[in-house]
Amino acid sequence: NFTPNAFVEEVVAELKEKIGNDKVVLGLSGGVDSTVAAVLLHKAIGSNLYCIFVNNGLLRKNEFQNVLDQYKGMGLNVKGVDASKRFYDALAGLDDPEAKRKAIGKAFIEVFDDEAHQLTDVKWLGQGTIYPDVIESVSATGGPSATIKSHHNVGGLPDFMKLQVVEPLRMLFKDEVRRVGRTLGIDDELLGRHPFPGPGLAIRILGDITPEKVAILQEVDAVFINGLKEHGLYDKVWQAGAILLPVNSVGVMGDERTYEKVVALRAVESTDGMTADWVHLPYEFLMKISNEIINNVRGVNRVVYDISSKPPATIEWE
Ligand code: XMP
Repeated sequence: NFTPNAFVEEVVAELKEKIGNDKVVLGLSGGVDSTVAAVLLHKAIGSNLYCIFVNNGLLRKNEFQNVLDQYKGMGLNVKGVDASKRFYDALAGLDDPEAKRKAIGKAFIEVFDDEAHQLTDVKWLGQGTIYPDVIESVSATGGPSATIKSHHNVGGLPDFMKLQVVEPLRMLFKDEVRRVGRTLGIDDELLGRHPFPGPGLAIRILGDITPEKVAILQEVDAVFINGLKEHGLYDKVWQAGAILLPVNSVGVMGDERTYEKVVALRAVESTDGMTADWVHLPYEFLMKISNEIINNVRGVNRVVYDISSKPPATIEWE
């Protein structure tokens, strides 16, 4: 029977013993796993834990600043690095999903490596790997660890990969990680966040990525996610998000015909992301959200709702 208090006490003692006065670098993603791992390490070694939170320009609206402030409020020694431009440059003109993922993974590793080089005498790389990641080897729940792992064997290893790895959550399942997080006093709002993929909005913009498309999708996503929260639906859904389609459809505005973007909304129920059912969101809610998007987000004139389950339709559209 898992008891979070005992786990925290035991792991903190182990980490102290193992790491001593060494320095640890850790990439925060804004997700549950990397956050809980960081707070545990911080409890054990304090300011010898150096956290790096990278803005890849593909996060949700205002997420970088909000989450960075939250991390600072928790007392973590964290550096926020806005590398959006570097990611947009790396993505420019790419429309193949695999090429996009590779470019993002490569840019992330370069940025992280640059930052890690500015720290002296770091001996360890902290990671928020949890038990299902250990089994699957590539995380389905996102974050830097997944990015690092899936790009493990692309050419020569960056320097930070030569560090010793410390993974305090390696033996835990997701619900146990949440319970540990609660024991550590981490905000429930953060612990209850939906999974969000490492490549972020890039896999919800079909075709090539531009900063303008990201900005449109961020607005649409914010209307949808805030709406779910306001209507008490957020916690009933396992994951939700919006997808920007690579087609324009016709609309009317006054006497004019417009050709503007179509967005799809997706909300699923799942336990582990391996299978998923679309959620029967209330029509009234969908109507309200659709109106709000079309009235407020410039460049979008049509909203559709994805009613496909996995398999065969994956959660992300890529
Ligand atoms: P799919 O689309 O395969 O997604 O049904 C299952 C879960 O995995 C997430 N996902 C990713 N997470 N890097 C990640 O860190 C990725 O490249 C990636 N692709 C999908 C997806 O959001 C869902 O939770």
